[in-house]
Amino acid sequence: MDSIPETNVAIVGAGLAGLTLALALHARSIPCSIYELRDPTVKTTGALMLSPNALKVLDSLQVYDRIRSKGYNFTNIAFKNADEETTDLYPLGDEQQYGYKALRIYRQTLLEQLRAMLHARSIPITYGKKFHQVLSASATGVRFAFADGTSASASLLIGTDGIHSTVRKYVSPSTTPTYSGTLAITCAIPSSALQFPADKDYSVLPVAIHGTLGTFVLAPQDVDGSEVLAGTQKKYPEQPREEWDRLFAGKDKLLAMLSEDKSSWPSLVQSALGAVPKETLSIWPYYTVPKLPCWSSSSHCNRVIILGDAAHAIPPTAGQGASQAFEDAFSLALLLSKLLSSQLATSDLAAALGIWQTYRQERIDRVIALTLKLNNTRLPKGERENLDQKMIWSSERDLGELEWLYNHDIEAAVLRALGEAAGPR
Ligand SMILES: Cc1cc2nc3c(=O)[nH]c(=O)nc-3n(C[C@H](O)[C@H](O)[C@H](O)COP(=O)(O)OP(=O)(O)OC[C@H]3O[C@@H](n4cnc5c(N)ncnc54)[C@H](O)[C@@H]3O)c2cc1C
Ligand SMILES: *[C@@H]1O[C@H](CO)[C@@H](O)[C@H](O)[C@H]1NC(C)=O
Ligand SMILES: *[C@@H]1O[C@H](CO)[C@@H](O)[C@H](O)[C@H]1NC(C)=O
Repeated sequence: MDSIPETNVAIVGAGLAGLTLALALHARSIPCSIYELRDPTVKTTGALMLSPNALKVLDSLQVYDRIRSKGYNFTNIAFKNADEETTDLYPLGDEQQYGYKALRIYRQTLLEQLRAMLHARSIPITYGKKFHQVLSASATGVRFAFADGTSASASLLIGTDGIHSTVRKYVSPSTTPTYSGTLAITCAIPSSALQFPADKDYSVLPVAIHGTLGTFVLAPQDVDGSEVLAGTQKKYPEQPREEWDRLFAGKDKLLAMLSEDKSSWPSLVQSALGAVPKETLSIWPYYTVPKLPCWSSSSHCNRVIILGDAAHAIPPTAGQGASQAFEDAFSLALLLSKLLSSQLATSDLAAALGIWQTYRQERIDRVIALTLKLNNTRLPKGERENLDQKMIWSSERDLGELEWLYNHDIEAAVLRALGEAAGPR
């Protein structure tokens, strides 16, 4: 029987998943510490879109109150055709319907708030520590080493080390991220530079314009919407990491790629392309992690676990990457607290983790199915018309569907999965 001794959970990676996991464990009185490769002074760029399911997790961990006024609130993203007519509205949040508006917030702002909360709770983060390997594992714990030759031990080792996870090699040795063939090119433009045509309705932002060349997105960010993310995606062959870095660094080439066939875009997009601050140009090649058979390592007595992007990096169209990582973290902390307090029908770690993974994977699979439907709205008209219309997102038909995504009660779902009545704790 692998019951968990009340010692320390070690978390590898202080990204969104790792920091949230630490807060969730702390809230359930499970001690933990984090090891992070990078130095905290390294600044991240870009903004994230957070949906109601993510904000609910962050709210229950007291994070939402700290970030709600630090981002851009909105409800729908408008889909437009090449003539700039609105074809559909897709909700990314809604206070009445789902409890929260969507929040677009800089990743750096969110990381800083999370780190401050860990600091206030005296949860240790050791920076500049690169996880290297597992040394040994038993039914009571795991010993592991860092790249600098030092080592540590813990009752559990949880890898939240992102899409290129090192911890994953103990869970699924042969898995590597798969390139989707698509590259996003983005930049950040002052909203004041955008020239909205007087005869078109742009009352709803963000907007995704499905033009003749592809889809162009304009998404306000910063508290007052004074900046917009602008960008499009293109088919692009896979490159080795150094070449992706080179592409990112070559701002003139990126601007040329983003501006290709500029005159075929609506005038609004042209106004954006005429105002690109070069230093804000960025790329995002879409890599995903294929479905894994297991999120913990049975050959290490299930003492090594992964979650977040390490376990399931997904394509971006539904805007759920970070949100699903938050759900993973919150639900795992709940599961472990139930195991520790022997409130489970099973005290078997392997069985409990199996139930947790099945629950998590079902949600990830549904997000991927939703992503495919949203992808299909972006296909050229001819291809779209040839598809089974049920395979294309339509608010009219599918709106009710978002309830499962946004109005999800993690606690009830975990307890139900564990076969326990969802009574008072
Ligand atoms: C450009 C871009 C835009 C995105 N926009 C959105 C969005 O709008 N909405 C959304 O929901 N999602 C979005 N995502 C996806 C989202 O960023 C990820 O799903 C999320 O960051 C996953 O969190 P994570 O903590 O699992 O991984 P990460 O955020 O990648 O964190 C991993 C951490 O582990 C550390 N680490 C790695 N290896 C080691 C090691 N060996 N030892 C110690 N530490 C290590 C890393 O330094 C890092 O801090 C976007 C992603 C990108 C790239
Ligand atoms: C966003 O909405 C929330 C909830 O209504 C509110 O508390 C917050 O202040 C809003 N943020 C901004 C920047 O207006
Ligand atoms: C949706 O499109 C993106 C970008 O082309 C791609 O990475 C992803 O694999 C697609 N998703 C699905 C489920 O087809």
